[in-house]
Amino acid sequence: MNGSQEFLVTAAGRVNLIGEHIDYCGGKVLPAALSLKNAVRVRPNGENCIRLSWTTLEEKVTLDFSRLEEYRSLRYGNYQAGCALLWRQAGHALVGCDMVQDCSVPFGSGLSSSAAIEVSTLAALAALAGEQADPVELALLAQRAEREYAGVNCGIMDQYASACGKKGYAMLLDCKNVTCEYVPLELGAYTLVLLDCNKPHSLAGSKYNERRQETEDALAILKKKLPVECLADLSPADFERVKEALPPLLQRRTAHVVYECDRVTQAVEAMRAGDIARLGRLLNASHKSLSELYETTGAEPDALAAAAQRHPACAGSRLTGGGFGGCTVSLVRADSVARFCEDVCEEYRQKTGLSAKAYAAEIDDGITVRAL
Ligand code: GLA
Repeated sequence: MNGSQEFLVTAAGRVNLIGEHIDYCGGKVLPAALSLKNAVRVRPNGENCIRLSWTTLEEKVTLDFSRLEEYRSLRYGNYQAGCALLWRQAGHALVGCDMVQDCSVPFGSGLSSSAAIEVSTLAALAALAGEQADPVELALLAQRAEREYAGVNCGIMDQYASACGKKGYAMLLDCKNVTCEYVPLELGAYTLVLLDCNKPHSLAGSKYNERRQETEDALAILKKKLPVECLADLSPADFERVKEALPPLLQRRTAHVVYECDRVTQAVEAMRAGDIARLGRLLNASHKSLSELYETTGAEPDALAAAAQRHPACAGSRLTGGGFGGCTVSLVRADSVARFCEDVCEEYRQKTGLSAKAYAAEIDDGITVRAL
């Protein structure tokens, strides 16, 4: 490797088509990587630190390699610090560098800006160290950075999609075995539309961890009844047989997980058969379940999804990602996207007083690395 080598590294945000809040229950999910990305321009600086700057912020932050444990509460730079720490702990060479971050994944949108930042930072550190990094290893390290450093006890979906996404494909990701099958994203006359409800979601982290804990509590009870390793191992028939063992709240949470797993299988069937109407109905059912059983939506996301679902050009719509705000993903006739966005945003504004925002994005590759 040339010691003064400069790289441009990117990793993607993601949209999850269906399979929400089941990655940490060992389920299969169906995300795709987006052309909204975090781009990192990096070059060695010969020092024992990372000098961070952003194209979109005034902030400048120096991460000293002897103090990498200490940056958890930084407003900006904490994800990068967590990644550097875990990269070194995993036994890799950590090379001092200047790093410019340029994020086109909107923050707090449910499109995984954090995963894009983590994965691209790790891929940049790997490029500097002259390593041919395995994207799955980078995804797993990024997930650990999110859990151990940022304190969100997340599943593997976002980081995996960010690292391993493929242009034109959704990923049927088995979160129990961490393996994925690429499914061509062929939607016929339809396309995906992302609309942000623009509701700030400050409690997202703690509520997320609470839901995760509830699924673990439910699993501990059900393991006494059935030989299951994770909630996703439960078939709908198993669940109906044993559900009375659970208190009402955990019964609702588990019902979401079990039937959402089933909807993912059906959604892949529908996609492969080109049955957009069926796929759309599954998206709607997923949103209803997140709203009523898992309770990770809220008034604004519900209003936005309902407005989309009612629109004649829309086959189905649901909130994507961790929830409590962020974006809906809708299946919309490609020839009616502008009209759809206008009508739905207007109805949403009348109901909530908020302006929704459309993001233009394609389904794209995960990590890219270019030597400059
Ligand atoms: C967040 C997490 C993911 C996943 C989703 C919900 O995006 O980071 O691991 O649990 O929420 O499906």
